[in-house]
Amino acid sequence: MSAGAGGPRGRTGAPGGPRGGFETLAIHAGQDPDPATGAVVPAIYQVSTYAQDGVGNPRGGYEYSRTANPTRTALEQCLAALEGGTRALAFASGMAAEDCLLRTICRPGDHVLIPQDAYGGTYRLFDKVLAPWQVSYQPVPLSDPQAVKHALERRPVRAVWVETPTNPLLSIVDIGALAALCADAGALLAVDNTFASPYLQNPLALGADVVVHSTTKYLGGHSDVVGGAVVVADAGLGERLAFQQNATGGVAGPFDAWLTLRGIRTLAVRMDRHSHNALRVADMLAAHPAVTGVYYPGLPGHPGHEIAAKQMRGFGGMVSFRVRGGEEEAVAVCARTRVFILGESLGGVESLIEHPHRMTHVSVAGSELEVPGDLVRLSVGIESGDDLLEDLRAALG
Ligand SMILES: Cc1ncc(COP(=O)(O)O)c(C=O)c1O
Repeated sequence: MSAGAGGPRGRTGAPGGPRGGFETLAIHAGQDPDPATGAVVPAIYQVSTYAQDGVGNPRGGYEYSRTANPTRTALEQCLAALEGGTRALAFASGMAAEDCLLRTICRPGDHVLIPQDAYGGTYRLFDKVLAPWQVSYQPVPLSDPQAVKHALERRPVRAVWVETPTNPLLSIVDIGALAALCADAGALLAVDNTFASPYLQNPLALGADVVVHSTTKYLGGHSDVVGGAVVVADAGLGERLAFQQNATGGVAGPFDAWLTLRGIRTLAVRMDRHSHNALRVADMLAAHPAVTGVYYPGLPGHPGHEIAAKQMRGFGGMVSFRVRGGEEEAVAVCARTRVFILGESLGGVESLIEHPHRMTHVSVAGSELEVPGDLVRLSVGIESGDDLLEDLRAALG
């Protein structure tokens, strides 16, 4: 497939930081051998405070672990390198990262454009938490640049919030096209890159201002840690975010940062296998008589396929589909798989199946973002592809 975001995968990295191929950065950025012992893996600095060399003279800048912790620093340096940002900040969860970002950039009276299809928790943050603080939002079909242009012309917009691919309908947004519109309108472009991961897509290289991750997903990759991250292009915004993060405190703990970093080292090989298995699953589902529609950007018939091929380096491991029997049958399919585990979340090595309408996206019920009841979402893992196909065929009956 064509090399997209950030050009051919080659010499990348954070400005002024380490440079190298993606896989090299994933294993080495922020992770030099320990100067004291030579340990090749960063230590878990399970510590809250640090001895100071004098009043106002902390060693290496570390004074208290809410402000900074060496294990978290290692993760943040690696994330900045992988997304090509000037700075990354690691949080206790993806939602903590989103909340910190939005409260850094928005003030009461500000307006944000959001997707018509997005993670339910993100919608809940806008609708139930930020709206009462007078930050208003408007769902817009972000795959349609004309619709975005009109929304940007109608009133001042502080930020445009993008997911691509979206959760759970796998819609694709043209990041470069939106970046140009946002730059003209003076709006900040934030991209939730959770579904693609930095291995498949680098929004900053396409013109976005900020990248957000639920590192719980592909970056961590093993369903054993919850975390989030914000990566920025602009150092000034990075400073403001660091201030807000320290002031509000939703930081990643040392062990969580260490686990996430351990997952990141194998991100490249995992994403290749996720993408390979997901394409096989999507092809099988597309030909299955019990399936009425498949959402996977790797299928040539997907409306965002061309853009995905341009801006992504692979199509990822998430596949959604609709079943002929309606909502009850969709729920029944979720209960019948044996290899796909019924559960929320995504991006781990094990395959998961879920019913968005009743599980991950309950919070969008009755809103413009409501998802169809006959929809099933798969996080296709890295097990043997044949076993995954056989499991789904059996569940579909
Ligand atoms: C696309 C996306 N963004 C953000 C989040 C929130 O992340 P977390 O669960 O780590 O708080 C999720 C969680 O599922 C997600 O799927």
